[in-house]
Amino acid sequence: MGLFNNLFGKKLPVETPLDKVQDTVSSAKEVIKTDIQKEVNMSNKVKFIIDGKECTAEKGMMLVDAAAENGVYIPVLCHMKGMIPAGSCRVCTCKINGRNMAGCTTPVDEGMKIENDTPELTELRKTIVEVLFVEGNHFCPACEKSGNCELQALGYKYQMMVPRFPYSFPPKAVEAGAGKIYLDRNRCIMCKKCIRTVHVDGKNVFAFRGRGAHLEINIDKTLAAKLTDKQAQEAMDVCPVGSILRKEKGFDEPIGTRKYDKHQIGSEIEKVS
Ligand code: FES
Repeated sequence: MGLFNNLFGKKLPVETPLDKVQDTVSSAKEVIKTDIQKEVNMSNKVKFIIDGKECTAEKGMMLVDAAAENGVYIPVLCHMKGMIPAGSCRVCTCKINGRNMAGCTTPVDEGMKIENDTPELTELRKTIVEVLFVEGNHFCPACEKSGNCELQALGYKYQMMVPRFPYSFPPKAVEAGAGKIYLDRNRCIMCKKCIRTVHVDGKNVFAFRGRGAHLEINIDKTLAAKLTDKQAQEAMDVCPVGSILRKEKGFDEPIGTRKYDKHQIGSEIEKVS
């Protein structure tokens, strides 16, 4: 701002040559700052190849998220963008620089070569989905999550018919006394998403208990009783299967109109490309 004159008792701005010089210097500084910022951003970008397609993403971004940004779908069950990866389901397995690795725990780097859509990986992912199906009681026709279930949607995607493996799930207790939540442990695929996202008073509402074959998901009933309607709905939505249900809401949205009833899982990402 320029110097001030006193005119009729008021101070008015008057622009001087010095002000013009200062303005020019400030705009030049802004241009330089923007250019530097652009360079920093560019230097954080890496290029990598997925199935022959050249992709670009922020260095260090997890492969499944970087692929999605480039319109490439890699299936996930235990992963959610922004959450610390757990790497527990392995359905996101890709061949990265010649080795099978989980796409949700592998950050992208310059020059990476990734195989994603190959018959070998499709077969591997289908096998994982089949194993998850036989390890729990996933009776889709009677499940309230049918049509919104990611495991079921992957079963359709990989054209799973009859599982090749014997059923091997011990019956587990259901929990109907946890506030607005109904918990069916028989459908849990141990993805830990509920453990990582649902909190009340800074404490986990869900946790694992037991070990080995006896490992199962548990809910803190005292904390669960404090869940708001919104939190209970979010807990149901974060569960990729029908293990966590919000009571009295199971069939509000009719079967046949749900998320994966009309569109194959992953199709929304593939449309981005
Ligand atoms: Fe990567 Fe589950 S999504 S291990």
